[in-house]
Amino acid sequence: MKTMELHLTVNGKSLNWSISPGELLLDVLRRQGYFGVKRGCEKGECGACAILLDGKPINSCLMFAAQAEGRQILTIEGVADGGKLDPLQEAFLDHGAVQCGFCTGGMVLSAKALLDRRSDPSEEEVREALAGHLCRCTGYRKPVDAVLAAASRRKNRARRMKVAGEVAR
Ligand code: FES
Ligand code: FES
Repeated sequence: MKTMELHLTVNGKSLNWSISPGELLLDVLRRQGYFGVKRGCEKGECGACAILLDGKPINSCLMFAAQAEGRQILTIEGVADGGKLDPLQEAFLDHGAVQCGFCTGGMVLSAKALLDRRSDPSEEEVREALAGHLCRCTGYRKPVDAVLAAASRRKNRARRMKVAGEVAR
């Protein structure tokens, strides 16, 4: 079987993998143990396989692994900071937005991409960001509430840090 080398960064770690030129990124990531990248429809319709590629959400079932050469990938395994959950993950748990969890990794990643570029998104923008993710369990209200709550937590934390900085001056 013909193979090639793939050099990429996954969750901040620089890696070299041997792949087949025609392999999908989804298959390669799962083979390498990133099982938070879920195999759903494999047609780009459910969002379960979503990752962030250079900060933007994409469905890894629609991309050849070879196209990830030199790129930065974030999977759900890389979202928490060591043992500490990201505020978005906490908000998903607090709002009951995690049921079976099959869609959750992809949703959290798309929400993260949104909050990284829009600190104060409207509900409509949150719904738009989550639109590519099918969820059989939550009815979507809870994930939307979770993302809005995480945005507000992030904002409050930034405000507190600014005030603390001014007091320390
Ligand atoms: S498995 Fe990729 S979008 Fe459904
Ligand atoms: S929590 Fe089960 S599919 Fe979304």
